[in-house]
Amino acid sequence: MLQSQKLFIESPNFPVREVNQASASEKLGGGRPDYWEMVFWWTRKPLAGARAVIAGTVLPDTISPNEFVYRLRLGEKTAHRHNPSVDPWIERFKKIKLLDPFAGFGSIPLEAVRLGVGEVVVVELLPTAYIFLKAVLEYPKWAVDRGVGKKLIEDVRKWGEWITQQLKNDPDIEELYNEDVAVYIGSWEIKCPHCGKWAPIVGNWWLARVRRGASEEEEGEEEEEAGGRRGEFERLVWMEPIRLGDEISIRITDINRELNRRTIRASVNTRTGTVEVAEGAQKTTYRVPQPNIDGRREVATCLHCGNQIRKGKTNWYVKEALREWNTRLERYLSGAISLEELLSKSPARPRLLVKVKIVNKDLVFEPATKEDNGKLLESTRKLKAMWGDPDISTEPMTPYGGATLGDPPLIFKKFYKLFNPRQLLTLVKIVKLIREAGKRVEEEKLKQGWSKEDAYRYAEAVTTYLAIALLKHVNYNSIVTSTEPTQKFLRESLAFRGIAMMWNWVEVAPHANILGSFTRSLDSVVKGLLYLISAVSGSSSKVRVLFDDATALSELGDERFDVIVTDPPYRDDVPYAELSDFYYVWLKRALSDVVDVGGVSVRRPRFLAEAFFDEFGNEIETQWKAFSSREVSEVKGRANIFGPVDAGGRSIPVGSFEHFKYLLSESFKAMASKLVDGGVIVTYYAHTSPDAWEALLEAGWVGTGLMVSAAHALVTESPQRVTARGATTLDMSIVVVWKGRASGEALADEVYAKAIEVCANEATKYRKAGYSGVNLFVSVLGCTLSQFTQHKRIIGVKSLGELVEKYIYPATAAAIARSLTGAEAKLSPASQFYLLAKVLIDRGRRLRRRLDRTSATILSIGTRTTIDQLRALRVVERADGDLVLLEPEQARDIRTSIEGLLREKNIDPTITLFRTAIDALHVLEYLAITMSSDELRRRVDEFRARNAGLIDEAIEITKILVLALPEEEVERRLAQSLLDALGIRVGGLFEFSRR
Ligand SMILES: C[S@@+](CC[C@H](N)C(=O)[O-])C[C@H]1O[C@@H](n2cnc3c(N)ncnc32)[C@H](O)[C@@H]1O
Ligand SMILES: [Zn+2]
Repeated sequence: MLQSQKLFIESPNFPVREVNQASASEKLGGGRPDYWEMVFWWTRKPLAGARAVIAGTVLPDTISPNEFVYRLRLGEKTAHRHNPSVDPWIERFKKIKLLDPFAGFGSIPLEAVRLGVGEVVVVELLPTAYIFLKAVLEYPKWAVDRGVGKKLIEDVRKWGEWITQQLKNDPDIEELYNEDVAVYIGSWEIKCPHCGKWAPIVGNWWLARVRRGASEEEEGEEEEEAGGRRGEFERLVWMEPIRLGDEISIRITDINRELNRRTIRASVNTRTGTVEVAEGAQKTTYRVPQPNIDGRREVATCLHCGNQIRKGKTNWYVKEALREWNTRLERYLSGAISLEELLSKSPARPRLLVKVKIVNKDLVFEPATKEDNGKLLESTRKLKAMWGDPDISTEPMTPYGGATLGDPPLIFKKFYKLFNPRQLLTLVKIVKLIREAGKRVEEEKLKQGWSKEDAYRYAEAVTTYLAIALLKHVNYNSIVTSTEPTQKFLRESLAFRGIAMMWNWVEVAPHANILGSFTRSLDSVVKGLLYLISAVSGSSSKVRVLFDDATALSELGDERFDVIVTDPPYRDDVPYAELSDFYYVWLKRALSDVVDVGGVSVRRPRFLAEAFFDEFGNEIETQWKAFSSREVSEVKGRANIFGPVDAGGRSIPVGSFEHFKYLLSESFKAMASKLVDGGVIVTYYAHTSPDAWEALLEAGWVGTGLMVSAAHALVTESPQRVTARGATTLDMSIVVVWKGRASGEALADEVYAKAIEVCANEATKYRKAGYSGVNLFVSVLGCTLSQFTQHKRIIGVKSLGELVEKYIYPATAAAIARSLTGAEAKLSPASQFYLLAKVLIDRGRRLRRRLDRTSATILSIGTRTTIDQLRALRVVERADGDLVLLEPEQARDIRTSIEGLLREKNIDPTITLFRTAIDALHVLEYLAITMSSDELRRRVDEFRARNAGLIDEAIEITKILVLALPEEEVERRLAQSLLDALGIRVGGLFEFSRR
């Protein structure tokens, strides 16, 4: 099919800017696809980007970029809200068979279906994601194909409401919740080892601190506020502890209520805990208490005696106390000890601090009372009565926590303990109701004359969506949730990359009308389903979801695919198996049956049994036990449990970087074996470490013999949400197109020379097409990679590391320089970085170039440096999250500018030995304007003798800077003076002016 024709995605016409704009807009707040709100999954790819990547891989380079943008709706405000209209190309799409073996939440296949790709097959290793994929792809398509799409949406709503109604009628629920309370905020109380009194541990006394017009982008940006921010607030509420004898009670300060104001002008400093409120000429200063716990440093402060509770010789009392509570709780539940013993002997216990009501759409905060806490206790009793019920999630959490997974697995140990007794009791009730709803749906359909098979399938779909609503509710309703004062008010359990210990958790009443309740979660699922049904309507694709392992793809037999587009995990970014177990244990319960066997309730297969029971019919306890050793990830703790695996004669510790690389390689081999001749693989990848990047090349090229044909830098994450994103990923992915097979061998130096020639031409084409910055860089990198990876073996280098460092990356920089100036130079990594930053990054109106984290990282990967090295070498400097290039500041007087720079870099201009060619460049630039030409030349000779190649390298950079920088740039003038003083002339080789 695709054969040797050049693809649109390989051409400079691929409209990367429009694609990225469309992707960026959908990652923010209201731009997100509705079905993403059904339930959270990690690292979902923007739909607009996936659409463009798939279409660009199927369509030839001869199509018009304008038509591409238009037909894919990339120019619309939110592209994904519109189905693409690809009529003139539909026959091409229909002929394609596409595979995504790491499908996650299904962005890539969903867009394939919307484009009308003939057959779409997806694979996932983890049961949870496998089931989500069914919900995203299979059920909507199945329902639409049978004309029951609308009915399905209605039934999910109907049965979800039935569940809510049943809950409302449940006497336990009525007894345990106050009808008018939407949310409880709780924490843990610790019996102080110093004074022996019970004191709550509170990580955040703020309840609401909502700025007017606060948008999602601001969420969690608390550092910004640290210096004190003045402005209009919609809500300012916090709590304080009040000591009353042996007890701590809570007082709430609600400024809006106190002043009876909708908005408040105030200056808030979260670091010092001061709030200054201006009322006319009067100013009132309030104090918000500081947290009395610092989990990272393991220090807590008793609210009674003020003593610090620190880590002793071995364990920290606070964590020990929680562990003890949890051990005793299970002993109580199982009948081994009495409630009195549980309460009197445990040094910790859960405690409700605040309750929140919704009155006229507004949140009203009140201190939780003794009666409120009494209800929590009553739930504990009720829970004991139901102990042994298989709907209580008693599965063990991973025994490794720490840096990757956080403390909760180590403290709570079992999943059910991530919930307070009332939360748990309610969740178990919902599970039972979902199961019951599933039965009733099936009966109803059978009564309506549906075939057995269809009725069952339909019931499976409805039950799955209801279960997903439960999962969303669970995510917002555990003791590892937290308060989030600035925007959403509460934060879900899986908001971070691990499961973090939280010292203020939220409990959401199931039927409350608030984010995270079961009712609201149901709304999200219904809305998501509506979106999906409309997305797949009109598509003639066939779609299949497989539960399989991407490193083997054994379910596929001898099937072959024209296109594989996929997004494998990025090294140590997300421990998927362990984290999504948080969902798995509930999903298993909601979708399986419970039957009575000789007076004992046991779980039995019902829906999607393959996800919960193995081939011998044994229940799969957790994903981490059953699947994590095959998950393509680096997760340190795994090695302690699983030990090494024997991989092709090598012993590799499970979860090590080696293991990740091995599995990634295996998955490339598996993909290649499922590809038709002339087929194409496209991979997404985002990680900040150069090693992780090399792992991809190692897997695809060295291990599998695939050839790179192009690469792009595509926006995949919203740049604002660093906390949610994790520190190791980028907000752009490097998307690599693999086409054709490597063959033969070649000399490194020869390929290097050819790569520069070919890719300088390509670079010029990309620039003419409007590529700039990191996009230009990555597409040229794609070109140099294609030059090298054509060959199976490159002679003259010992390792892939050496090849990228000494040849591929320098060739990329050289090709870009040559495209811009006609001149080229082989530069060391730091010089490449400096030069690329100078020529690719626009200074704008600033005095120096600023690189956002992603641009800096992509350039550092592609020059084989790290940001830390670059900082140590004083090439860049950190400035509020960005990096500033240490270059001569844009100023009127070039001498002041270069002198200032030398001072900042701490370079004495009389030195004769240099750290880097960049330092040499800056000293030479300074000397050129401060000494005579003869003297300068003498100094240069002297430097040359002492600094090996550095001086020549500095001069090469100087030439390129003169040619590439616009005339008004200070460093261009400095560089020109230097060349003049040395009597070096460079020709004006501009092919066209720089953008
Ligand atoms: C980066 S995510 C994919 C996200 C997806 N593109 C989306 O937009 O939602 C990678 C996925 O690979 C899955 N995975 C990890 N190891 C796997 C394996 N051996 N076989 C199949 N899937 C695997 C993970 O469970 C995870 O969902
Ligand atoms: Zn004390």
